Amino acid sequence: MAKDKKVLVVGGGGRCHAIVDALMRSPQVEKVYCAPGNAGIALQAECVPIKDTDVPSLLAFAREKKVDLTVVGPEASLAKGIVDAFRSEGLKIFGHTRAATRIESSKEFAKDLMKRYDIPTASYRCFSDYSEALSYVSSRPFPAVLKYDGLAAGKGVVIAQDLQEAQDALKSMLLDGQFGEGKVVVEDYLEGPEFSFMSFVSGEEVYPMPLSQDHKRAFDFDKGPNTGGMGAYTCLPFITDEDWKEAMDGILKKTASAMVREGCPLSGVLYGGLMKTPQGIKVIEFNARFGDPETEVVLPLLESDAYDVFSGIACGEALESLKWRNEVTMGVVLASKGYPGSYQKGFEIKGLDKVQAKVFHMGTSSSEGKFYTAGGRCLMVVASAPSIEEAGVQVYSQIRRIQCDALFYRKDIAHWALEGKAAQVIDGKALSGSIKLSVKETVGRLAAEGKRQPCLAVIMVGDNPASQVYVRNKVKAAEFTSMRSIMEALPEDTTQEALLSRIDALNRDSEVDGILVQLPLPRHIDESQVISAISKDKDVDGFHILNVGSLWLSQDCIKPCTPAGVIELIKSTGIGIEGKLALVVGRSNIVGKPVAKLLLDENATVIMAHSRTRNLKELALQADIIVAAVGKAGLITGDMVKKGAVVIDVGMNRDSDGRLCGDVDYASARLRASHITPVPGGVGPMTIAMLMRNTLDCYFSREDKE
Ligand code: AMP
Ligand code: GLY
Repeated sequence: MAKDKKVLVVGGGGRCHAIVDALMRSPQVEKVYCAPGNAGIALQAECVPIKDTDVPSLLAFAREKKVDLTVVGPEASLAKGIVDAFRSEGLKIFGHTRAATRIESSKEFAKDLMKRYDIPTASYRCFSDYSEALSYVSSRPFPAVLKYDGLAAGKGVVIAQDLQEAQDALKSMLLDGQFGEGKVVVEDYLEGPEFSFMSFVSGEEVYPMPLSQDHKRAFDFDKGPNTGGMGAYTCLPFITDEDWKEAMDGILKKTASAMVREGCPLSGVLYGGLMKTPQGIKVIEFNARFGDPETEVVLPLLESDAYDVFSGIACGEALESLKWRNEVTMGVVLASKGYPGSYQKGFEIKGLDKVQAKVFHMGTSSSEGKFYTAGGRCLMVVASAPSIEEAGVQVYSQIRRIQCDALFYRKDIAHWALEGKAAQVIDGKALSGSIKLSVKETVGRLAAEGKRQPCLAVIMVGDNPASQVYVRNKVKAAEFTSMRSIMEALPEDTTQEALLSRIDALNRDSEVDGILVQLPLPRHIDESQVISAISKDKDVDGFHILNVGSLWLSQDCIKPCTPAGVIELIKSTGIGIEGKLALVVGRSNIVGKPVAKLLLDENATVIMAHSRTRNLKELALQADIIVAAVGKAGLITGDMVKKGAVVIDVGMNRDSDGRLCGDVDYASARLRASHITPVPGGVGPMTIAMLMRNTLDCYFSREDKE
């Protein structure tokens, strides 16, 4: 087969990038032009600065370059009549005629067609008069669905919850002329999961693409405003074979023949925005083009020669049935912070060259080999794998390699499909609550027996806000358990001598069982001297050199709180530590090293690593237990986690949004792990619970000695 075909792709977003990418995989395609294209498309095609709606210039370009085929992305170009214009000049073009594009551009046309041909959709009425529309809506149950008739760039649908909202929407659609002259379709509100069924259609012939689902809301858990789509995936577990057949026969094929009978046959993509309602599959909307961002997850799976497909549909030839890779894909959109509201552009995007997944550009610019944000939605990263969990692991692990503080992305793409497949979340708050409760019971019993009360003394020097929060939480926990607490806040300029003498007084105070000095201390004070000044038996943190030494010699000692809490968390999963391979990342004296020792004491095999360990990924992939305590955001990504491992994230960092995050990339790691701690609240509360337990232990060992 000769590699000699030239193709022009019209459009410039992520969807067009996916079309260009599919065409570039064809062994027949020598060159792709894209008008206007974008900075990412320019890596694969020659971009030409012609607007996608400038039909005369596009026509002239196609003729001049003798392109063999033109493929149209956006609906605006189709609605402008680009296909009619090219065909009248004898040029081969993939896309619908202007008349056929009405299936998307006119809601009234589409609704009317569905009614006449008995294609299931919400029942509706169409209005151009404001008062008639309002009185109809008032007579019907809410919510009411109001759709502006015409291309409104996705902003033409309002789901009104009450009469006031309906009135406002109708006013802006029919009276204020915000969208131009037009009509409003009022339709019944339907409920159920939505999905996208795209197909290539040529006359009566329908060639289905894999199903996919878009995520329209801006934020996780489908919160926040509507957007152009924040992610998509293929393979929908909630659509059965029967549902698929019902949609294919009862909707797509029926619509294709209806359009033939109406004298405006389809010759491009028919996109069914469908909903699985309790009354069967129904049409929410039709589009006359590829969906965005669905195309970016669907076309990478096309195994057939894309040139043959587009060219065959353009010529009205019958195609062999299409071949699709037997994998699923997940794609996550990286958007500018602020989108879909206002946002700034022009921030450099780094690390794109390190990403081992498809990256489709939606809105970027480039200059001297660097990429910059240039739109609301900027990039879409797409990974394919045999299962949706694996696709999720890959896509989120790879996204971590992209560095740009101005971008955000949803962490829950495909949550519909992943329900029940992700790790169990280790509930550190609940476990710490039950430990504190048992301490409280013991303290209560001592009181009932008329015994001396346990007492924790907490010292803080200076007014570091983080330290204040930690100290307050520790004192609050002590109050919860009804043990006594002494809180001493010393000024920043307290001398080391003064501090040491306070500690000495507490050491000698027979009413005090535990002494904790909140770290870090001001620079003029030597922390190690302070820690060693605390009596070994009152060292509730377990930091005293004699406690540390005893821990390593397996002698009786006070165990440091966070490491002891980590062990409790691992045990709470029920996996059994003995014989397991544990990887501890981070070698600090207060977390990493003692965790490793405590794991050894539980008869685990332990590997210790740090943030720059060369083969960290290979080591991590063998571990049944991973404990990350480094303080480096996203160091452990899901592709480093063995299936079924227990992942404990001790790290507490701030990501570029200022939100707390751990050392583990939760979005991807949770898809491999069997159990995982969330951030925040995964390990922190355990530190405090163990502090309470240590205070009680100090109390009892002192009482025993007397
Ligand atoms: P459309 O632009 O027609 O796709 O509508 C945008 C969104 O509005 C859809 O994705 C649905 O979530 C919602 N929507 C549209 N029509 C209905 C309906 N009849 N019932 C419930 N939701 C709807
Ligand atoms: N993803 C919805 C659309 O392309 O219209």
